[in-house]
Amino acid sequence: MEQPATLLDVRDLHVEFRTRDGVAKAVNGVSYSVAAGETLAVLGESGSGKSVTAQAVMGILDSPPGFVTGGEVLFRGRNLLTMGEEHRRRVRGAKLAMIFQDALSSLNPVMTVGAQLGEMYEVHQGMTRKDARARAVQLMDRVRIPAAKERVRDYPHQFSGGMRQRIMIAMALALEPDLIIADEPTTALDVTVQAQVMDLLAELQREYNMGLVLITHDLGVVADVADKIAVMYAGRIVETAPVGELYKRPAHPYTRGLLDSIPRLDQKGQELYAIKGLPPNLLHIPTGCAFNPRCPKATDLCRSDRPPLYAVEPGRASACHFWKETLDES
Ligand SMILES: Nc1ncnc2c1ncn2[C@@H]1O[C@H](COP(=O)(O)OP(=O)(O)O)[C@@H](O)[C@H]1O
Ligand code: SF4
Ligand SMILES: [Mg+2]
Repeated sequence: MEQPATLLDVRDLHVEFRTRDGVAKAVNGVSYSVAAGETLAVLGESGSGKSVTAQAVMGILDSPPGFVTGGEVLFRGRNLLTMGEEHRRRVRGAKLAMIFQDALSSLNPVMTVGAQLGEMYEVHQGMTRKDARARAVQLMDRVRIPAAKERVRDYPHQFSGGMRQRIMIAMALALEPDLIIADEPTTALDVTVQAQVMDLLAELQREYNMGLVLITHDLGVVADVADKIAVMYAGRIVETAPVGELYKRPAHPYTRGLLDSIPRLDQKGQELYAIKGLPPNLLHIPTGCAFNPRCPKATDLCRSDRPPLYAVEPGRASACHFWKETLDES
């Protein structure tokens, strides 16, 4: 089978925040790629650098204090970080879209949702207001907002959290992007609504054959929709694998810990496992393996030498000196 073309190829990305307290190394050599029709889940505890990586890709990094200090962001083979401003804006405006966790602060509170959706078409495609409104209604239908024809005149606060998130998805879809980055798109929602919104996103991704980067701290949410997973810790990818493989046989103790801390129906009543300790302060990342203070398997080697991303199997890698033992124990 022919491999689908890579859309987004992030290579060895570095981002730091220069703050009064010192330099926080938020992203320390992240590489990942996404092809058309593919879903990559980026997983990790809060503060691991998931959002900052996405912000650097989208060109919306809070700068200063944030600076990209190395690496490349290739979109269809061209580096977004070095291309001309005009070209870059065009690519990011039309070909890449982003969905955020909090629709209420991303949507304009004083504009009707119809006007906001329609504006996309007026500004980017030069449509008349009337045509743009008609397209807005179509889009709202497409993301299954009931009574779209009437609701197009409502304001964001008049919608429920789940419906607002559908509007965000509609906004992202409007210009038929090649790639969507969704940053914790369902985290603020109730569990049942979460599943509905996630299913909708997955369905649209397939229909439009888009690439999707799905950022989450919740392994449970992405199991059914992702093709592959990149697990982040302290600004690095520590394990990457096809989703089924990673669930069945993790090759990194941190991934193992994340899996063990998912509530399971067959273990009702049992105390839930939690990874001990806290993620590191990014101003002072531990030497050697950044996970060593929390890792049940840590040795002196882990405290002195930083593990590279070892190739485990085709399509799999783990940044653990003891990946083989970890894999065998799984
Ligand atoms: N605006 C900012 N100013 C200073 N530091 C920041 C800023 N945004 C992010 N950081 C640093 O980057 C780290 C990673 O943040 P982020 O990518 O948002 O984590 P997450 O994985 O939860 O999305 C944070 O823990 C923080 O140290
Ligand atoms: S390298 Fe050592 S400390 Fe790091 S995850 Fe592997 S066993 Fe644990
Ligand atoms: Mg985040």
